[in-house]
Amino acid sequence: MSAIPAGKNAGNGKITVPDILSRKASASHSQNSRQKITCLTAYDYPTARLLDDAGVDILLVGDSLGMVVLGNDTTLPVTLDEIVHHVKAVRRGTRHALLVADMPFGSFHVSVEETVRAALRLVKEGGVDAVKLEGGEKRMEMIARLVESEIPVMGHVGLTPQSVLELGGFRVQGKSAESAERLLRDARAVEAAGAFSVVLESVPRELAARITGELRIPTIGIGAGPDCDGQVLVFHDLVGLTMGGSPKFARQYVNLGEEISRAARAFCEDVHSGNFPSDAESFHASQFAAQAKTQVH
Ligand code: KIV
Repeated sequence: MSAIPAGKNAGNGKITVPDILSRKASASHSQNSRQKITCLTAYDYPTARLLDDAGVDILLVGDSLGMVVLGNDTTLPVTLDEIVHHVKAVRRGTRHALLVADMPFGSFHVSVEETVRAALRLVKEGGVDAVKLEGGEKRMEMIARLVESEIPVMGHVGLTPQSVLELGGFRVQGKSAESAERLLRDARAVEAAGAFSVVLESVPRELAARITGELRIPTIGIGAGPDCDGQVLVFHDLVGLTMGGSPKFARQYVNLGEEISRAARAFCEDVHSGNFPSDAESFHASQFAAQAKTQVH
């Protein structure tokens, strides 16, 4: 029997960390011939099934969960238990995509030991292929220790929503020369620590292009312009399920919010008018049908 489980070796459609690394724009690939990396967030089984079947490369159980699914104003309250709970559902619906989970605020801030233990839970209980954590230079040690522990890491620099208290809001990063320089250092640090890719969030297009050109690992942009090696969007922005509007960089491909409201209103009308359920939507038993006949005669 092979020690390599089915689904983990090349050629069966399962996307692996080396596959993602190989999608980096390189001198041997022209800008047009390489295929950009696609990444969407997912938080439950049906969404994971649909996105995986649609051919999305990476499914991310982001801590945006706390905002778009759980209704908080920030991602800060999200716990490791909550991420594990949602990751398990997404794992069951994912066959091809690389599955990445966010390390929530607090799970990688106390000690290296706690960081590795938290990431191991995501791998062992949640079945993720990699973890993502926010921060650049400050997080080098944590990233390096995770990679040393055989856990692939996706970095995340630029606007890091877990820094909202320090930043004072969700703002575009890297606009001044000084902030751009800091961001460059952060991106380099993430690569040097051993991450296999890095998310660039809310960064001027020109700066994202420069970072993408400089790094050997793929950059995955969100609000970072079209020159990154890949793009990520929050699922709820993509399908119009945001309650308070979407950021400028998000493109809404369908308005499921409107569709769901329409369906719920139609259901209420049908129940009130007696139009639902119909006879065809009801169960029947022959003994009652016979009784009904006798009563009629
Ligand atoms: O939590 C999340 O969904 C993310 C993406 C926005 C990259 O970090």
